[in-house]
Amino acid sequence: MKKLRVGILGLGRCGAFIKSLYLNDAVFVATCETNEELNYGLKELYGDDFGFYTDFEEFLKHPGGMDVVIIGNFFHEHAYYAIRCLEEGIHVISECLSNATMAEGVALVRAAEKSKAMYILGENYQYGTSCLEMARVYKEGSLGKVLFAEGEYNHPWLGSLEASRNKKTSAYRSFETHWRNYLPRTYYVQHSLSPLMYITGSTPRTVTAFAANNCDATTGDLMIGPNVKDRAAIILCKNDDGSVFRLTGCASFGASDHVYRICGDIGQIENIRGMEHKILLRYENGWAPKGMESVQMYEPQIDPVEAELIEKAGGGHDGADYRLIVEAFKAIREGKQHTLDVYFATTMSSVAIQSHRSLLAGGVPMEIPDFRKEEDRIKYENDHDTPFYGSDGSKPTMPCSSY
Ligand SMILES: NC(=O)c1ccc[n+]([C@@H]2O[C@H](COP(=O)([O-])OP(=O)(O)OC[C@H]3O[C@@H](n4cnc5c(N)ncnc54)[C@H](O)[C@@H]3O)[C@@H](O)[C@H]2O)c1
Repeated sequence: MKKLRVGILGLGRCGAFIKSLYLNDAVFVATCETNEELNYGLKELYGDDFGFYTDFEEFLKHPGGMDVVIIGNFFHEHAYYAIRCLEEGIHVISECLSNATMAEGVALVRAAEKSKAMYILGENYQYGTSCLEMARVYKEGSLGKVLFAEGEYNHPWLGSLEASRNKKTSAYRSFETHWRNYLPRTYYVQHSLSPLMYITGSTPRTVTAFAANNCDATTGDLMIGPNVKDRAAIILCKNDDGSVFRLTGCASFGASDHVYRICGDIGQIENIRGMEHKILLRYENGWAPKGMESVQMYEPQIDPVEAELIEKAGGGHDGADYRLIVEAFKAIREGKQHTLDVYFATTMSSVAIQSHRSLLAGGVPMEIPDFRKEEDRIKYENDHDTPFYGSDGSKPTMPCSSY
């Protein structure tokens, strides 16, 4: 099998994928990273031909070329680079979100449709072992058709409680205008929403949202960034198939978890708060498939061969980081459209953006456009509103907080 030549834009989070590349017949050939302090020992690790670039256009010209670029620069600046790769015929695996404005979403869809290369969203949470088990049970059909589902990504700030409450910056938000200091709670929706869309196949069409907060508006909330102030966004999505999702966006309340629950008309499945690896599967009394109890609690087991590979890859996010690379490379090699394609990705981004607008307007319902349709693209192609500072010095055009 031909080895895929892979480049990485932004060596923060995406460094976590490097071991998985080598376990999946790929080589890491170049990186583009503006922080030159990270250019340390890379040629010793990845060979004399390895390229370190601070300029993206130079990176694209790396001798020998690249088949795939993994995009992991600042959260709100992925779309421009993804589009440039697609224009050059290079496959893209982009960290989430795919786009931070509605206009970027339209441009990204148009670029992906024009390109011979594939766009894949680099979201990982649906590949966690519990989520894959929920997907298996749901797809096998015994729960019936989804009516309601919940996704909760609750990630209180890292470090001691005292330090979290008293620091305006940290390694994760190292300068004042860093995206994490202006991240509306609805914008980090991917980890609560993607698993639900992946498991059920439902697509959000309308959203409404409220913020949860309890800080002093003048001092802000240092734990999540002094400007953001909202601790969570509670989002409701009405979907194309009649079902409803309830999501937290990025929440920060005591006792972290990543939990999901899928309710069909016959039964429901969830992973359990505080015991995320455990599954609770329940059917209406007497409606369980033949030979099964109506209530079961169990921990899904991983195939031992896969478990060894996940360990070798570093284990990130319960094996989800490794599986993300496996699934993406499979789609690229076979030329088969990936589930997390550009429409899946931009729908998720629209939920992030439109839910924030709903929250700012006191919970008013907002539509989620379908960027397969030209009329929806035209409606949003000039919508550049953003709550973030740009690396080019541009300023936010909407507030990041409900305060
Ligand atoms: N899926 C997950 O589990 C997960 C976990 C963490 C982060 N992420 C995502 O990964 C992305 C990156 O996260 P992070 O924590 O590393 O962010 P970060 O802001 O800490 O780091 C971004 C890195 O990109 C570099 N960079 C920024 N702009 C660049 C440019 N134009 N050219 C070259 N390099 C550039 C920065 O120097 C920095 O090293 C974000 O979108 C984040 O949401 C995903």
